[in-house]
Amino acid sequence: MIKLKDKSILITGGSSGIGKAVALRCAKDGAKVLVAARDEEKLSKVVDEINSLGGKGFYFKVDVTQPDQVKKMFENAIENLGCVDVVFNNAGLGFVKRIYEITDDEIAKTIDVNVKGEIYVAKYASQIFKEQKNGHLINTSSLAGLITIPQWSVYVASKWAITGLTDAIRQELKPFGIKVSSLHPGAVNTAFFSKDKANIDISQMDSSQVVTPEIVAEAVYKAIFTNTRKILVPSMSKSYSFLYKFMPELTEKMMENLVKDVAYEDEPEESSFGYVKPCPRCSA
Ligand SMILES: NC(=O)c1ccc[n+]([C@@H]2O[C@H](COP(=O)([O-])OP(=O)(O)OC[C@H]3O[C@@H](n4cnc5c(N)ncnc54)[C@H](OP(=O)(O)O)[C@@H]3O)[C@@H](O)[C@H]2O)c1
Repeated sequence: MIKLKDKSILITGGSSGIGKAVALRCAKDGAKVLVAARDEEKLSKVVDEINSLGGKGFYFKVDVTQPDQVKKMFENAIENLGCVDVVFNNAGLGFVKRIYEITDDEIAKTIDVNVKGEIYVAKYASQIFKEQKNGHLINTSSLAGLITIPQWSVYVASKWAITGLTDAIRQELKPFGIKVSSLHPGAVNTAFFSKDKANIDISQMDSSQVVTPEIVAEAVYKAIFTNTRKILVPSMSKSYSFLYKFMPELTEKMMENLVKDVAYEDEPEESSFGYVKPCPRCSA
């Protein structure tokens, strides 16, 4: 079944990784796909790939942290695509840093792109969907939007925001027949783990814990036009999120073990919970 033939999809974060993989998967069905991000050179190459796979590609240069640009992106989408059937609200980034070491600039970037950016895109998408009385909004959260992971606190905060946002939007748009889903991938091998953002080398991670963007794209593709609340991929993500609901402390322990190789020099070897150590500042 070619379910997306001539359907129109707008994808933010479409220049690389998961967004690009979803764009190419939809293109194989002959969909009209508008990819949006900041890097025009990369976007233009994705458009070429979309066209060569049988889709109809367009791109729009956007910084999702700027609401005026997001509004223009949707105006451009209507001009080029005619209407918008699906919005994959996916642009995002993350810094793998603990709360006491992340810089103020990195905090601002994480919240601006992951939270404010996704909110602006959701707002303008919902206005179009409401007019059309049709549409499917898919917001990229993360497994980190359902459980907690040490070293990822600010990213976790941004993605829990998206999980909550998505659930509330679903309730708001239900009367208009608009579908709303959130995507919760575990670790995916993309530029997300580039050296400037992560102190985790993804090639060193247990390969059974890491999936390709194409696997995530297939799950997103399958969920398009269904009323799937939460797209959990890979299946291990389902187990973690289920476990976290009922046994949060056990899941936290599992996550601590998962990242334990990235220990910090100043980190105490043993937890000091249970007794009060003399304060080094006062006793100096
Ligand atoms: N990789 C993982 O393990 C993983 C796991 C769970 C969730 N996720 C989420 O999946 C989404 C996609 O990430 P990815 O793994 O595919 O990483 P990626 O390859 O680095 O892709 C991130 C995309 O976001 C775009 N972007 C970043 N800042 C932007 C801005 N201000 N305005 C517009 N576009 C912007 C980037 O394009 P430009 O730089 O060209 O703007 C790029 O297209 C993110 O929301 C991420 O949090 C990733």
